[in-house]
Amino acid sequence: MKALVTGSSGFIGSHIVDELLKRNYEVIGLDNLSTGIRRFLDDARKNEKFYEVESDILKFEDLCNCMQGVDIVYHMAANADIRGGTEDTKIDLEQNTIGTYNVLEAMRLSKSSSRICFASSAAALGEPESFPTPEDLPNPIQTSLYGASKLACEGLVSAYCNAFDMEGYCFRFVSLLGPRYPHGHVFDFVKKLKNDSSKLEILGDGTAQKSYLHINDCISALMLICEDLRPAKDLDNSFEIFNLGMEEYIEVSESAQLIVNELGLKPEFYFGHGKRGWVGDNPFVLLDISKIKKLGWKPRNTIKESIKETTNWLIQNEWIFDERV
Ligand SMILES: NC(=O)c1ccc[n+]([C@@H]2O[C@H](COP(=O)([O-])OP(=O)(O)OC[C@H]3O[C@@H](n4cnc5c(N)ncnc54)[C@H](O)[C@@H]3O)[C@@H](O)[C@H]2O)c1
Repeated sequence: MKALVTGSSGFIGSHIVDELLKRNYEVIGLDNLSTGIRRFLDDARKNEKFYEVESDILKFEDLCNCMQGVDIVYHMAANADIRGGTEDTKIDLEQNTIGTYNVLEAMRLSKSSSRICFASSAAALGEPESFPTPEDLPNPIQTSLYGASKLACEGLVSAYCNAFDMEGYCFRFVSLLGPRYPHGHVFDFVKKLKNDSSKLEILGDGTAQKSYLHINDCISALMLICEDLRPAKDLDNSFEIFNLGMEEYIEVSESAQLIVNELGLKPEFYFGHGKRGWVGDNPFVLLDISKIKKLGWKPRNTIKESIKETTNWLIQNEWIFDERV
């Protein structure tokens, strides 16, 4: 079996590469290294079944070349930073929506690649009023250009699956945690404390409540659905969306306290105003995960364990702060 992983040098993509190689897949990793980190694939590079392409999903010819003989595409390449969309209003449209169109179109033309695993986001649900939020929320109101682009991508995956006999799985991830974690609140807090351990500035008033998921639990869910079960395979509608998160959540201020305890520090906390840290920041994230749980998946790591493990990984791998400035 052969897989293409777009965004293979990123946080999630590199874990997918490692897992697929463990499963004896031949893996092509495509990344433009805009936010990817070469070191994440050091182990993969030792495996002769791994082939790396430094290119861009917006370079259609390269994408088509990578698609030859591929059975499944794990499409992770994207602008993964929600905040960036307000400064550069084109980035989510280009990198996410047009990028995903390119991937789907290259799959269609290749004829061999007909299965796609797409990294959507809880942000595609905007700021819902119903909790835990189900997959079938009607017309989610969008609060970020990133979320809007992810919703548009889900629509494209669905349309390609229906029109061209393809099989698609979209996963709406909450924020992930764990080894190789290169962005997000734990990264930001540890980085700030490394520079000045006497104070910690927190975006927002610290009362936002968020669900987080460990990267290993995310990978086990993707493998169960896209490799082991493939629930859409025999259905007329060959497209499925799954929420991926936890049935618990944590307040940002409690999370900050856990991080400083783990670091053995006692900084003064400085809070911002309002529940939201930035435009599009959802003050309450809790997804209904009953659909995927019914298929046999369950997360193994608690949020508190994941925050502590991530903090310790960052401290033991301080080089990552030089990679991500
Ligand atoms: N990490 C999370 O908490 C989280 C939550 C929800 C959704 N997601 C989604 O999961 C996916 C992976 O996120 P991540 O956390 O690994 O982010 P990341 O930034 O670590 O990885 C993205 C990778 O894609 C590459 N890339 C970006 N644009 C590209 C392009 N045009 N062509 C080729 N490569 C390109 C980057 O260099 C990087 O290696 C993204 O689609 C993101 O939106 C992530």
